[in-house]
Amino acid sequence: MGYGSLYFPSMTARIQLSQPAPATPHQTLTLEFPVEGVALGGRVQIPGDKSISHRSLMLGAIAQGETRIQGLLLGEDPRSTAACFQALGVQISPLEEDWVTVQGVGLGHLQEPVDVLNAGNSGTTLRLMLGLLASHPDRFFTVTGDSSLRSRPMDRVIQPLSQMGAQIWGRQGNRLAPLAVRGMGLKPMHYHSPVASAQVKSCLLLAGLMTEGATTVTEPSLSRDHSERMLRAFGADLTVDPETCSVTVHGPAILTGQTIIVPGDMSSAAFWLVAGAITPGSDLVVENVGINPTRTGILDALQAMEADITLENPREVTGEPAADLRVRYSTLQAGQFGGDLIPRMIDEIPILAIAALFASGTTVITDAAELRVKECDRITAMATQLAKLGAKVEERPDGLAIEGGIPLRGNVVDSCGDHRVAMSLAIASLRAQGQTQIQRAEAAAVSYPSFNQTLAHLCGLALVN
Ligand code: S3P
Repeated sequence: MGYGSLYFPSMTARIQLSQPAPATPHQTLTLEFPVEGVALGGRVQIPGDKSISHRSLMLGAIAQGETRIQGLLLGEDPRSTAACFQALGVQISPLEEDWVTVQGVGLGHLQEPVDVLNAGNSGTTLRLMLGLLASHPDRFFTVTGDSSLRSRPMDRVIQPLSQMGAQIWGRQGNRLAPLAVRGMGLKPMHYHSPVASAQVKSCLLLAGLMTEGATTVTEPSLSRDHSERMLRAFGADLTVDPETCSVTVHGPAILTGQTIIVPGDMSSAAFWLVAGAITPGSDLVVENVGINPTRTGILDALQAMEADITLENPREVTGEPAADLRVRYSTLQAGQFGGDLIPRMIDEIPILAIAALFASGTTVITDAAELRVKECDRITAMATQLAKLGAKVEERPDGLAIEGGIPLRGNVVDSCGDHRVAMSLAIASLRAQGQTQIQRAEAAAVSYPSFNQTLAHLCGLALVN
């Protein structure tokens, strides 16, 4: 197996990524840091927000006219969205460019594809797209994904869509992909979602765009509101009631192409915020991070743990708030996290668990059973992988109890094929004694293709090929 290596000036430390070999698509990331640790410093730019990237491609696809997108996340998940909409007849410029352009076909004009649509690893692609497909009359669609996505619950969107009159079939009693969809004219409804899920909410709002009348979604607590912000910007008639966590779209809508500048992803920034908070001597700035209040639960949690994080240069970028975030090392205290905070940091709980390992006391995370149906079961994954590093982490039905202050030892761990688990384990290795090997580390490319390079950069490493 060949190695592209990232070496510290001192050979006691290294970050080394095995190259994909013909026999296996998997890569192992080997990390080793000096016993005295490494202080992270400098300024870092992070990739575009994944949720906003998906939505800008999708709304661009169904709008009239051209949508221009700057800062799109070039990770595997938005690539899946782009490929699906290209198969539905939408012209999208190459995703390698600074600016990506989408030639919208107009609502109701997605074409019947000649083959199965593949959403890859991306739940957002599949669930949001389903709302559009189900409401496109006289077309037939089949949709699938990778083995992780094919095991994730789709009934949470199929059920309410069916109540609107949609015809969708899937495995295991219409619960799992692959799915078959016969597009129909739908009827509006008021759906009370049992989970705070932006994917469920957005799926139904997208279905409501082509549906005559008021389609309302009420959530138990507020999930990320990127769809609401962007739908309004594209011209949809939307009413939001924050008191009841309800959103109504009045269809049929006409959407007009927009220019969108995608801010950096808080979910990606969180790795560097925790890295800086746990490594003595660190002082770094993460630039241009989206700080939409529905996404800043991780800031609230880390600040409650006495992390030293400050917001600089707050601004608004095409309807979404953004700022630079400065983090400096500080000693952390354990926290208790649950309730409405959880949907506001649902993707950051794996990395919050890493912060908790270095806090004084036991951190308890509750009300987070949704983590069991993410790209993997993140509760089991974090408990089992961190145990391999010597941590004391108790797995609970709806969360984790994490004992802080126990020294970590490097070991062989597994990403479980989950991007956020892979990157969280890499950050834990910064404070583990000896060598840590992360198997299936290629998973990080789903949301953060340049993660390893940025980690090296922040540690003051030079990339050696
Ligand atoms: C997302 C919503 C969340 C989140 C996912 C992205 C979105 O999922 O975990 O990574 O872009 O709408 P749920 O809606 O299942 O909570």
